Amino acid sequence: MNLLSAKDLSHTYEYELFRDVSLELHEKESIAIIGMSGSGKSTLLHILSTLLQASHGEVSILGEDIAKLSKKALAKIKRDDLGLVFQSHYLFKGFSAYENLEVAAILSHQNIDDILLQRLQISECINQKVTELSGGQQQRVSIARVLTKKPRILFVDEPTGNLDKITANEVMKLFFEYCQENSAGMILVTHDEKLAYMCQNVYKLENKRLEQVK
Ligand SMILES: Nc1ncnc2c1ncn2[C@@H]1O[C@H](COP(=O)(O)OP(=O)(O)OP(=O)(O)O)[C@@H](O)[C@H]1O
Ligand SMILES: [Mg+2]
Repeated sequence: MNLLSAKDLSHTYEYELFRDVSLELHEKESIAIIGMSGSGKSTLLHILSTLLQASHGEVSILGEDIAKLSKKALAKIKRDDLGLVFQSHYLFKGFSAYENLEVAAILSHQNIDDILLQRLQISECINQKVTELSGGQQQRVSIARVLTKKPRILFVDEPTGNLDKITANEVMKLFFEYCQENSAGMILVTHDEKLAYMCQNVYKLENKRLEQVK
């Protein structure tokens, strides 16, 4: 099944950032988008994940053209089907890591999965306040929070920026297994080519174009 399809996207801020960008994401598929800093990777991910409207082009999610959906229908897709793991974490700072996960679990009628916490190595610090955690721990809590709601599509922007190599590899493995087990798909943005090439398909954003390189 087709999870996401983007057709002829272009985006312009003060200048044209990219044009004619098309891609498709299927169940159990992982796509990486690489490119230099400032090439527009995060902007493209924001467009694909419905946070930003492209200057031109179409994005369909689970078969629905998102431009044609009502506000309510789009909010429901965002809440239930899209999982965003972004450069800034958006955790609720005054609360514990566990409370942050609880909110996600309650909103999506899911349970907090102990094995997930163990694999992300946050079982030990789960009752600490978010502000007392290291950057890498906060990053792993935000990953746990996203996976707790069981989204169909993961949008991931530089997920391992604060992590050492071993933890980064474990996080990537977790994402891949999550997609297989839940028939989900992942679009990952990174400038780390090694990480990118762990994905099934790799695209490069360069000279305003998106080109498939794997
Ligand atoms: N809200 C905005 N308004 C105007 N220009 C913006 C906005 N967001 C990003 N840009 C510009 O678009 C360009 C691409 O930014 P973007 O964040 O998409 O790049 P990136 O490829 O993700 O870079 P990095 O690897 O450093 O994260 C940048 O030059 C930036 O200045
Ligand atoms: Mg970026």
